Amino acid sequence: MNHQKLELIYQGKAKDVYKTDDPEVVIVEFRDDITAGDGEKKDILINKGYYNSIISAKFFEILEASGIKTQYIELLEPGLMLSHRLEMIPLEVITRNIAAGSLLRKFPFHEKQEFTPPIIQMDYKSDEFHDPMINDDIALALGFATREELETIKKTTLKINQVIKDFLARKGIIFPDFKIEYGRNYKNEITLGDEISPDSCRFWDMKTCEVLDKDLFRKGESGVINAYQEVATRILDEEDKEKWNIKD
Ligand code: TMP
Ligand code: ASP
Repeated sequence: MNHQKLELIYQGKAKDVYKTDDPEVVIVEFRDDITAGDGEKKDILINKGYYNSIISAKFFEILEASGIKTQYIELLEPGLMLSHRLEMIPLEVITRNIAAGSLLRKFPFHEKQEFTPPIIQMDYKSDEFHDPMINDDIALALGFATREELETIKKTTLKINQVIKDFLARKGIIFPDFKIEYGRNYKNEITLGDEISPDSCRFWDMKTCEVLDKDLFRKGESGVINAYQEVATRILDEEDKEKWNIKD
């Protein structure tokens, strides 16, 4: 099938979703816009969409190979991901292996405290309400998901964490925490959507603890795109790099 971008059906802060001629298939466009603070801090980071789409595609491929259902079909070209259409659930599912970020601002954990088992936290995805932390009962009362679906989400998230953490360890990257989002596919099955990229994860170099993610932008530091490129270079195999013309 010849998949082309048709009507724009959703516009987020960093991605657009387009219809295709197949009602169950969409094209997700990863843009270069970068935001923080619920969209208050904004910029354009040339090539960010390019790297985030390639990095997300790689993680989705690894997860699919581990039996996790994802939205991913294929990367048509850097920036454009052919995906299954999902009805998204407005929950940001955050997994924490090491204490960092807002957890340290909200609770008396010490920096880099390790969590075994990992902590799963859910936030309500809403700029208007500033993504407040939510629990199962509130999510149920708001009709976001059933209890069974919430259980599936948590179980799947722990598996995703394990698969990616182990993969990244082999690439010399620590995986302190990450945020993912789920939706339902046409069979009503809970399916991983959105992205897994330096925008939505913390990645630290294993030797130096150098930050390789969006925290650089959040803190106003330089070298943001170099960090994203470094993640791509580390996780892609030679074949991927040749295909997407990424140089070491
Ligand atoms: P936090 O420590 O700021 O709560 O972030 C936890 C994880 O979630 C971190 O890996 C970055 C990611 N994240 C998002 O993807 N979107 C967001 O809006 C925020 C605040 C964090
Ligand atoms: N979701 C936040 C925003 O877009 C970004 C972040 O801190 O990751 O403003």
